[in-house]
Amino acid sequence: MSLARKAVLTVSSNPVVTKLVSKYGMRLGASRFVAGESMDDTLQTVKSLNADNLAVTLDLLGESVRTRDEALAATAATIESFETIRREGVNSNISVKLTQLGLTIDPDFCLANMDRIAAKAKETGNFVRIDMEDSSRVDATIDIFTTLLEKYSKNHIGLVIQSYLYRSEEDVEQMGKLGANLRIVKGAYKEPKEVAYPDKQDVDKAYMNLVEKHLKNSCYTAIATHDVAIINWTKQFVKENHIPSNRFEFQMLYGICGTLQRELAQDGYKVRIYTPYGKYWYPYFTRRIAERPANALFVLRSFFRK
Ligand code: FDA
Repeated sequence: MSLARKAVLTVSSNPVVTKLVSKYGMRLGASRFVAGESMDDTLQTVKSLNADNLAVTLDLLGESVRTRDEALAATAATIESFETIRREGVNSNISVKLTQLGLTIDPDFCLANMDRIAAKAKETGNFVRIDMEDSSRVDATIDIFTTLLEKYSKNHIGLVIQSYLYRSEEDVEQMGKLGANLRIVKGAYKEPKEVAYPDKQDVDKAYMNLVEKHLKNSCYTAIATHDVAIINWTKQFVKENHIPSNRFEFQMLYGICGTLQRELAQDGYKVRIYTPYGKYWYPYFTRRIAERPANALFVLRSFFRK
């Protein structure tokens, strides 16, 4: 992890910074990465992405909740979102974080919440993907996912694997045996070198290795990155290995590399945009700044423009 990235993630956890940015954040530019605070605003964004042939995965922002009531509210809101997607006829599935659904309170309680969400995904003919959080949550997240995969099948539930973790090669191997639908990402959290590759080159190499492994295992793979070199490598790999277009998709984050998103869709690739919404955008926002410290300049500029 670069020094700049580490510094942003450290400073952003400072309580004074948290308070200030949470107060002025939308004005500070969080709206570049967050579709809206309400579902109504967000739906307009989803429709305009769909109009450009971009599928969506909606993410109700929130993580590390401390009370059962908060976790139950997030569960209910996610279930409601599946209804909204069906009613509005938009092309979107849903991504969730288990710490928003009570993982840190009680894993069994979280499993029960996630079970209700997966049941709703199935009932509405839709799909829910479990995001991956920091390395201390990986075992519990995989446990909950594999339990629910047996019940709901890969058509309704999927998982995320991070290429910066040393363990991920084995995890992808295991997921391949289960036929799981995976999103491969590089990883966005501050991790020690004991568990994650510190150098970008190693993370990138591991990324391509995981994508190759999962595609060769005949499993559905979401290649979630804005890295043009990896995207071009993927295009070449699927062509040479005759991987059909219904076995993979590209995914990117709302507000990042919009031109590239549209170009890929115009070239006939399936592209899905991870579209976060809701009031609890602060941790998500700081991870986006940390990935590209130049974004901090963008943030400052938008502050002075208004
Ligand atoms: P990399 O960081 O090498 O960036 C490649 C290029 O992309 C940069 O040169 C720049 O042009 C552009 N770019 C990247 N980030 C940018 C930013 N913030 N602002 C502007 N430009 C930027 N992580 C995780 O730990 N758990 C998860 O569940 C998910 N889920 C997820 C879903 C989807 C759809 C995506 C795209 C990403 C995630 N991530 C994630 C985040 C992921 O781990 C990673 O931090 C980011 O995608 C940035 O890494 P890249 O792969 O884009 O490569």
